[in-house]
Amino acid sequence: MRLFFLFLSMDIFLQAETLLKEANDAVISNADELEKFRIRFLGSKNVLKDVFGQIANVPKEKKKEFGQLVNSVKQAAEGKYTSSKESFSDSSKEQKDIPDLTLPGDVVNTGARHPIQLVRNRIIDIFKRLGFSVEEDREIEDDWHNFTALNMPEDHPARDMQDTFFVHCNPDIVLRTHTSSVQVRVMEKQKPPIRILSPGRVFRNETISARSHCFFHQVEGLYIDENVSFADLLQTLDFFAKELFGKDIKIKVRPSYFPFTEPSAEVDVTCFICGGKGCNVCKYSGWVEILGCGMVDPKVLENCNIDPKKYSGFAFGMGVERITMLKYQVKDIRLLSENDTRFLDQFKAAM
Ligand code: DAH
Repeated sequence: MRLFFLFLSMDIFLQAETLLKEANDAVISNADELEKFRIRFLGSKNVLKDVFGQIANVPKEKKKEFGQLVNSVKQAAEGKYTSSKESFSDSSKEQKDIPDLTLPGDVVNTGARHPIQLVRNRIIDIFKRLGFSVEEDREIEDDWHNFTALNMPEDHPARDMQDTFFVHCNPDIVLRTHTSSVQVRVMEKQKPPIRILSPGRVFRNETISARSHCFFHQVEGLYIDENVSFADLLQTLDFFAKELFGKDIKIKVRPSYFPFTEPSAEVDVTCFICGGKGCNVCKYSGWVEILGCGMVDPKVLENCNIDPKKYSGFAFGMGVERITMLKYQVKDIRLLSENDTRFLDQFKAAM
């Protein structure tokens, strides 16, 4: 009988030790396995209860040792359970750090090109295709380049056409009133053939209103070579107008006066808003004026040391604000220099 007890108790010890090893060695790699482990070792009907329930069969002197052994199985199981659970929640935390790829992306607020820049670039692109290159020059000019060389000597009444800003009250230094000054700069340093386009800012001492500003932008064009004719000028401007405003556009050339061109003209295009029928943009005339032009006056060529007997050429000048306002139906020129993003954002999709 005693022997039997001994065998039995040995078996129980063995069972408990096997469970201890199982609890310690268990590799739990997912939530399912963890739950199974919990039920087996820590659930209401766990295996330890079965084993511990047999303590009555353990000899008295071994009871304490047995109790401790079962307890250590329980502790091992609890330890394994807690550490496994923590490692799962760690990895699920890691998973939370992975961005939710189904969410809409952050909005990247892109800027927009300024409408003046859009129109300026468009004008340049068109003339570049005709072989014109871009020449930019200074905004602070001397009297010679802004006026005198362009056939506007002192006291010439044409100077009154442009209200000039003088720098430091020096009558010889001005903020250029037009980009025609660059014609002179280029002709002084380059020999014909010359085919340039000069975009830039100009300044006039005018009251700021919806229609005029004290600074704005112009693009000047100049073409000098042998045998350049008025027909060449018309052909060039017709091409330009159709490229800028559309194939159906017609141009109308009206005689005009500029001191630096002879003959001089102003060019209108059929109103691209109403197609010539008449609207408030063209003031019900069907035409809008876009630029001034003419054949370069021989006197201007001479002033720049170009022989007018050998060379001739044409020039033209246009206001970028004016064309922008016509093209986009902007009613107030001040919007073009106020940097109001509500206005500027509208040009994000333009051109
Ligand atoms: N410079 C003139 C202005 O500011 C525009 C202009 C007219 C330029 C005729 C030219 C031209 O080159 O030929 O009003």
